[in-house]
Amino acid sequence: MKAQVDKDTCIGCGLCPSICPEVFEMDDDGKAVAYNEDVLEGLSDSAKEAEESCPVAAIIVE
Ligand code: F3S
Repeated sequence: MKAQVDKDTCIGCGLCPSICPEVFEMDDDGKAVAYNEDVLEGLSDSAKEAEESCPVAAIIVE
């Protein structure tokens, strides 16, 4: 399972790192980044939750 953030779409709301800090963090530019692109087995639920919670649908987890 892989996680990606579309930085052009992200508005920097900060929700994804608060839901799943093991995969997402805020970058220096104030946008989120999936620093753990390869989502570990036990993290797929929270990574998916972050994907579904993003207000602008900037996250793809598949
Ligand atoms: Fe950005 Fe969405 Fe995360 S707006 S900070 S990718 S929840």
